[in-house]
Amino acid sequence: MHRFRHITICGALLFCGFGAMSARAETGADAWLRYGPLEKLAAQMYSDLPVTVVVLGDSPVLNSAKTELLRGVRGMLGRNLREVRSLPQERAIVIGTLSALRGGSPSFLASAELKDDGFLLSTEKFHGFDSLIVTATTERGVLYGVFALLSKIAREESISALHETQQPSAPIRWVDQWDNLDGRIERGYAGPSIFFESGNVRTDLTRAGEYARLLASIGINGCAINNVNANPRVLENDFLPQLARVADVFRPWGVRLSISVDLSSPKVIGGLDTFDPADPRVAEWWKKKFDGLYALIPDFAGVVVKADSEGRLGPATYGRTPADAANVIARALAPHHGIVFYRAFVYNHHLDWTNPKNDRAKAAYDNFHPLDGKFGENVIIQIKHGPIDFQVREPVSPLFSGLEKTNEAIELQVTQEYTGQQRHLCFLPTMWKQVLDFDMHAGEGPTPVKDIVAGKTFHRHIGGFVAVVNVGMDTNWLGHPLAMANLYGYGQLAWDPNLDSKAIAEEWTRLTFGNDPTVVRTIKNMLASSWAVYESYTGPLGAGTLTDIVGSHFGPGVESSERNGWGQWHRADRDGIGMDRTFATGTGYVDQYRAPVAKMYESLKTTPDELLLFFHHVPYTYELTSGKTVIQHIYDSHYAGAQLAAGFVNQWKTLKGQVDEERYEEVLRRLEFQAGHAIVWRDAVCNWFFQMSGIADQFGRVGHYPGRVEAEAMQLQGYVPFEVVPRETASGGKAIECAPAAQKCSATLPFDGAAGKYEVDVEYFDQNNGKSKFRVLVGNKIVDEWVADDHLPATKPGGDSSTRRRIIGLALRPGDTIRIEGVPDGEEHAALDYIEILASPEP
Ligand code: GCU
Repeated sequence: MHRFRHITICGALLFCGFGAMSARAETGADAWLRYGPLEKLAAQMYSDLPVTVVVLGDSPVLNSAKTELLRGVRGMLGRNLREVRSLPQERAIVIGTLSALRGGSPSFLASAELKDDGFLLSTEKFHGFDSLIVTATTERGVLYGVFALLSKIAREESISALHETQQPSAPIRWVDQWDNLDGRIERGYAGPSIFFESGNVRTDLTRAGEYARLLASIGINGCAINNVNANPRVLENDFLPQLARVADVFRPWGVRLSISVDLSSPKVIGGLDTFDPADPRVAEWWKKKFDGLYALIPDFAGVVVKADSEGRLGPATYGRTPADAANVIARALAPHHGIVFYRAFVYNHHLDWTNPKNDRAKAAYDNFHPLDGKFGENVIIQIKHGPIDFQVREPVSPLFSGLEKTNEAIELQVTQEYTGQQRHLCFLPTMWKQVLDFDMHAGEGPTPVKDIVAGKTFHRHIGGFVAVVNVGMDTNWLGHPLAMANLYGYGQLAWDPNLDSKAIAEEWTRLTFGNDPTVVRTIKNMLASSWAVYESYTGPLGAGTLTDIVGSHFGPGVESSERNGWGQWHRADRDGIGMDRTFATGTGYVDQYRAPVAKMYESLKTTPDELLLFFHHVPYTYELTSGKTVIQHIYDSHYAGAQLAAGFVNQWKTLKGQVDEERYEEVLRRLEFQAGHAIVWRDAVCNWFFQMSGIADQFGRVGHYPGRVEAEAMQLQGYVPFEVVPRETASGGKAIECAPAAQKCSATLPFDGAAGKYEVDVEYFDQNNGKSKFRVLVGNKIVDEWVADDHLPATKPGGDSSTRRRIIGLALRPGDTIRIEGVPDGEEHAALDYIEILASPEP
């Protein structure tokens, strides 16, 4: 005892010195595993923590658990735990599996009920000494327990009388990466792949190992590393040893490797003349392939299959079903306990848009419901949460209640494809919670989606959660520092879907930015409101994200959904908007739900406003429950949304000096971009609907922009006007660009307002195929200059590239001349849309 106290005092002293060096550079690489030094007072809560760690057992996963514990305690409390490999002779933190602990102390927790990767954190006597126990049935569970313990300390939660068991909701808690072998990532917004480069697995897999550590810390146990639009090469014999290298860096963190496979592989790389799943040669090919793969990677988890979808080949080529295709692979994997995730994202993207009965939303159910019970025991149907494609708002997929004798997993999307591409703040757990809690009315009592996918409702032994994540080589993993809250939140909900999304936001903030109450409150509130804010300026009333659906899926593009085969139709015309999916008069999609749900959506009156346009076609003058007409709601929500997005900037600015400078600046830059882009969205969507409906905004805002001067109305030198397509993505449908031969161009405006301080917004187009330079001068004085060198998904002026530069507090007097100079570069012609000059708000 005496000795223990002595060491604690030393630890505390050490910590005092340690606390002084709290100003550390934050890159975001540590995500929620920062282990930053706790404030002195908080650290005192843990002064009683044993100084010895006893590790019972020896394995890569247990070694990770131990290393993590040492690292975390050192980081947060400034103490170096002493490691012992035998039964404790003093108070200790004891980590090991239940069987190892019982081996050392047979009576230990004889009645403890732990399943799967569940764990127990407990303060109790072990081998005669008061101990802090971290135990589980599996080694992976022990690792999860260590992460949970460290998280408690980081969040300054008491651990003095711990007795906590945590059990995952479902065995499947996976992530998918859509990485291509050439290193690019499909729908990835944070740099190139951490796995692949130039057609091969990267030589240096440090980041892949670090990713596995992050995944383990939130209970993720599987990761498919390549694009669902799979390159068959991934299964070539010389590629398999490369995959084994990835499995090696995953293994210490209990993350099992998986890959996406292309169904035509037996033909494309196997030399057969067919990939027909019913052909015995094809079956034999898959069997041999996986026997070989498992010889190299014995803990390989299984494969993901996208087939007969968006141009991918599939069983339809031979008139076979998804069950035929899934089962032939499943049979080859079964002896090795591997799993097939067969994606329900099967639909025809050449639908006839002129037929009002056609409906892409029906595809998953139509294709898979008839096959219920025909899939092998090791097949899981991976179902996107909504029937279309990760829109900002969709109803829950009816397929969840359409399969009773088939394993299911829900597919969510962390990478913000349709939700702002990590340029906009959009905390998705708020949305996921609504999906997971939605009652499908599929049996006696409540049958929420979370219970169905976990296998509880229909007594399936396997099932769970998958999320498309797409981290990249960007140091902070997802580009936007706050976007990591989505990955964290996904892991938490996959582990326990009953958690509250606000509580998750708070936990993540504490772990990522520390425990300062103002910081925690501010960031938590921003996260909690962000999905609703994003929705309000991008996708009204369930119409879907009104983005450029045939291009980047980023900026506004209302028209792009229509008159093509992709089926993301909102059917907006001169008289009204919305897809009639009712049974009575529409596509009949509603009928795919169980009766109580179908009844709710069939009726206009009982369909919730936020999904109105998903289920019904209504006139613009239809009155919502709020009393507003649909058209006025579209205008109001876009104006309110843009204002709230601007509010994020102000909220964030209150944290200056309270969070580290690096992440403060990075987040600020993204929020400022978002605030500007929200206006681009607002104007494009409102103008499009105004043009289409001919109904004016009740408040006179649409089409009227105080302080705005169109660039084409300025005095131009070297600049020439041009029409932007689609026209609503530029103010007035026009912009200016440097004429082909011009080296330098300028647009000049005499200022004729009152003397005072102004906010001056310059709307320009930042493409990714050039780095134009801009300068703003008042008279001869340069007041701002910048380079348009962002990496937005755009090669031309429009809603994807439109960007705002704000000059704050600019002093102007009548008679001043404002000149914007542009220097084009490459394919980027220093294009400008408008300038907006508004009086600065009173200080
Ligand atoms: C979306 C996405 C594609 C992706 C597909 C899928 O349509 O835009 O890039 O391949 O989903 O989930 O398979």
